[in-house]
Amino acid sequence: MVIINQQIPLVVVLVAVVGGGGGCPFANGGGGIGFGVYGNFPKLNESTSREIPKGGMLYGEYLHIDKLLSCQEPVTRLVGNEVHDEHLFIITHQAYELWFKQILFEIDSVREIMNKRVKDEANLLKITSRLNRVVLILKLLVDQVTILETMTPLDFMEFRGFLSPASGFQSVQFRLLENKLGIRNDLRTNYGKNYYLKIFEDPNVIDIIKKSEDEHSLCELLQIWLEQTPGLDSPEFNFWERYKLVVNEMLEQLRTSAEMETDETLKHNGLDEYNRKLELFDSIFDVSKHNALKSRGDRRFTHKALQGALMISLYRDEPRFNLPFQILLLLMDIDSLITKWRSNHVEMVLRMIGAHQFGTGGSSGYHYLRSTLSDRYKVFVDLFNLSTFLIPRHCIPPLTVAMKKRLSMMDDSTIIKDSTTIKIEKQQQQQQQQNENNLNDVDDTLQSKINGKTFEL
Ligand code: HEM
Repeated sequence: MVIINQQIPLVVVLVAVVGGGGGCPFANGGGGIGFGVYGNFPKLNESTSREIPKGGMLYGEYLHIDKLLSCQEPVTRLVGNEVHDEHLFIITHQAYELWFKQILFEIDSVREIMNKRVKDEANLLKITSRLNRVVLILKLLVDQVTILETMTPLDFMEFRGFLSPASGFQSVQFRLLENKLGIRNDLRTNYGKNYYLKIFEDPNVIDIIKKSEDEHSLCELLQIWLEQTPGLDSPEFNFWERYKLVVNEMLEQLRTSAEMETDETLKHNGLDEYNRKLELFDSIFDVSKHNALKSRGDRRFTHKALQGALMISLYRDEPRFNLPFQILLLLMDIDSLITKWRSNHVEMVLRMIGAHQFGTGGSSGYHYLRSTLSDRYKVFVDLFNLSTFLIPRHCIPPLTVAMKKRLSMMDDSTIIKDSTTIKIEKQQQQQQQQNENNLNDVDDTLQSKINGKTFEL
């Protein structure tokens, strides 16, 4: 992967070719084109001031087509021995960078909305549709790799020698995307951890990247939002306590039925399963265990944000949780698609340069890129892992009437009730009150068991 600086003077190219790389397809580091990485990086999102002519603008003027189409300068043309496929190589990278720009534009706008903590539904719809747009762009980007794969390794070899030290590793927008989504720097693999910022020379670029590290990432903003999920621990509904009770009951049933098993193997397997599940659920019930996993990078969300995400996933059918649930799905799609892009890219790298050549950016190439496929590079890994903690629909603690109303799109005045509905509601309220009382009783018993250390789990 390469990004060619269009402002590289021909004389520099000639010096590089004659004096160092010499066009050798195996040339790597040192002998390549010696331009500073991103010497002239444009200020992102900075618009140029131009005047709209009286008669309006023509297509070419509006889109700066002249500028756009003069940005493809194969380095092999500059040295007088043009290689056909270099054109495709350049266009592909430029197309990626343009789409990266659009993705960043959407992600920034979503971050801005979430930062304001505005909770009205219109904003949720905006977030959903913009994230959906990002998903569609990413799908396109995943597939685009195949077009570049029409170039054979032999064709690539003809100009690869000219590319060093330029590398996709220096794609500022890609780093911004990672940081703005929320990849944790301490989880990057070794090559990336310290090096990823060091390679940039332009102070403007360094500032932009540093800023993206310091600002709230989408992942952080999501957590702040999830922590405010209605009903998490509000007086009208305490989701976490109710969920814990149900899970504990389910675990208890699992243990009892395993213990009652007469066949020794089945009993052993049953108890094994019980212990495994117990440990798993313990890791979300026990905050210190959750935090230990978080500091190791195995979990990213705060304990409360995880609860919010779980609540939304379980009560997704409630109208007010529909969009939040869609948002969680879209974020998982974004994570999956970036991993798919990484995977397609690494497969292409294997095909083009094999597993034993260094990248033009100086990494181990294939092996470095393979390491970025791990979960350490997944931002919303907790959302994927939520499935482990889902419980069957019939076990989901029923919502209180107040909570049901809160999650409904309609308020009382818009609901036209017939006499039967009113009767049912009354019964539900009574039943709910009864459940509340039972819940308090169970809570007390549970607490006294814990205090008395007779808690069997
Ligand atoms: C022939 C095609 C390509 C080859 C052989 C190739 C090779 C590589 C290699 C070896 C690296 C590791 C860094 C290094 O040492 O250079 C890399 C990184 C990268 N490449 Fe490519 N690449 C190709 C096409 C592309 C395309 C089309 C893009 C689109 C923008 C791209 C974007 C990137 C990015 C963003 C990274 C950094 C990934 C990371 O650090 O996680 N590459 N590429």
